[in-house]
Amino acid sequence: MFRSAGVRFALVYAAVFGISAFVLAVALWYSTLGLLQHQVQNAINNDSQTLLEHQELGGLPSLEAAIHDRLSNESDPDGIYLLVDATGQILAGNLDRWPSGLTQDNVWYELPVTRQGVASVALLKVAPVPGGMKLLVGRDVRARLELRNVLRAGLIWAVSLMIALGVLGALLIRSLFRRTIRDISATTSAIARGDISRRVPVSGVGDEFDELAININEMLDRIARLMDGVRQVSNAIAHDLRTPVTRARSRLEDAALHASTKEEMQAAIDRATQDLDGIVSVFEALLRISEIEAGSRRAAFAVIDLAPVLEDMDELYRAVAEEKQIVLHTDIAKPLPVWADRNLIQQAVVNLLDNALKFSESLTVINFSARVADGVVQIVVADRGPGIAEQDRARATERFYRAEAARNTEGSGLGLALVMAVAQLHNGTLHLHDNHPGLRAVISIPAHKN
Ligand SMILES: Nc1ncnc2c1ncn2[C@@H]1O[C@H](COP(=O)(O)OP(=O)(O)OP(=O)(O)O)[C@@H](O)[C@H]1O
Ligand SMILES: [Mg+2]
Repeated sequence: MFRSAGVRFALVYAAVFGISAFVLAVALWYSTLGLLQHQVQNAINNDSQTLLEHQELGGLPSLEAAIHDRLSNESDPDGIYLLVDATGQILAGNLDRWPSGLTQDNVWYELPVTRQGVASVALLKVAPVPGGMKLLVGRDVRARLELRNVLRAGLIWAVSLMIALGVLGALLIRSLFRRTIRDISATTSAIARGDISRRVPVSGVGDEFDELAININEMLDRIARLMDGVRQVSNAIAHDLRTPVTRARSRLEDAALHASTKEEMQAAIDRATQDLDGIVSVFEALLRISEIEAGSRRAAFAVIDLAPVLEDMDELYRAVAEEKQIVLHTDIAKPLPVWADRNLIQQAVVNLLDNALKFSESLTVINFSARVADGVVQIVVADRGPGIAEQDRARATERFYRAEAARNTEGSGLGLALVMAVAQLHNGTLHLHDNHPGLRAVISIPAHKN
């Protein structure tokens, strides 16, 4: 039972409640009865002092007279006096005998006494009187004792009630705690069993439990999105690769059944090999993207100047562009210091230039530029082709995404996914904008500061 956090919380709550009730009772006890006791002691001290002064001024007769005086006019009905001589003989007073147990002078005693045959309890103190005599002054405190009993009973009741309330509160806390935790654990275990659509109910009170529930739900949403992505990618892999595999298979089968010459057989095998190579390269690209996304490729990072790298690529692609009668407009600022992996940046820019060339009509212009602005190196590839529709732009960087219009072009839809992964590995971004018309792809990477 003590393993339950709810029970532990409840116990702590009950303990705190009980202890504060107890402290309150103790404080109340001393502030009432303690004060009363103090007042009585003061009265006895003063009385005793006055009587001793009588003795000093007028000797024994004056003292005896003063005691008689106090007893006869009953100014304080609770007053107790007893004067004895050195042998213990009673000289004056209203006690029947010297109380047993009263041995020391100037010490407070609370003892049973008999006053004119009536038993009672008194607070007493003895003062020595010159000549071996002893003066006992006290007050009957039976009334106070009764008050004490009443107060004690009251306090016991009050404390018991408070403890009961504490336990009740603790039980309430425990059930509250349990209910909330039960909601959360019901949800998480349902998810563990496979129902990822479940969410923790939010009470709407806006307390800490709500905050926790909202956080858990956000986490679940994110996991669901990720799982969706994984599912989409595996579907896409299956879908995209089935066609070439089936094609290769039917070619081989066809050749096995119908090829009559060695050359025909060879040609069929060659084409099938090409199909399979295509599949292998898709797998390689996929693995490469995952590897980059996992961030395990930082070993090859170094501070480099991107300008010469980009100029090389300009040279390479100028020839390809010319072949398609496309003008490559290049404007590369110098220097472009970055902390980067040269090969990966190269690969990313190749993918952008590839796309631009692939989707551009002949006799159009492609702008290829790079510059540093606000501590960021920006590489821009802008073409005047069909561009990507606004609503598709976010999805264009997903693996295997290809717009409807791109169905009859070569490619597997992994290019921009790799560019995105590379940009993110360099703590940068890839943004796709409308170039009115065409696509304007921008890679931004933080510039290296010396
Ligand atoms: N410059 C562009 N102009 C118009 N559409 C583009 C452009 N670049 C990309 N797209 C669209 O985005 C899709 C995804 O591009 P991505 O580079 O990822 O794949 P791909 O070029 O089709 O194939 P791969 O790059 O793997 O050979 C393309 O299929 C196309 O629909
Ligand atoms: Mg591409």
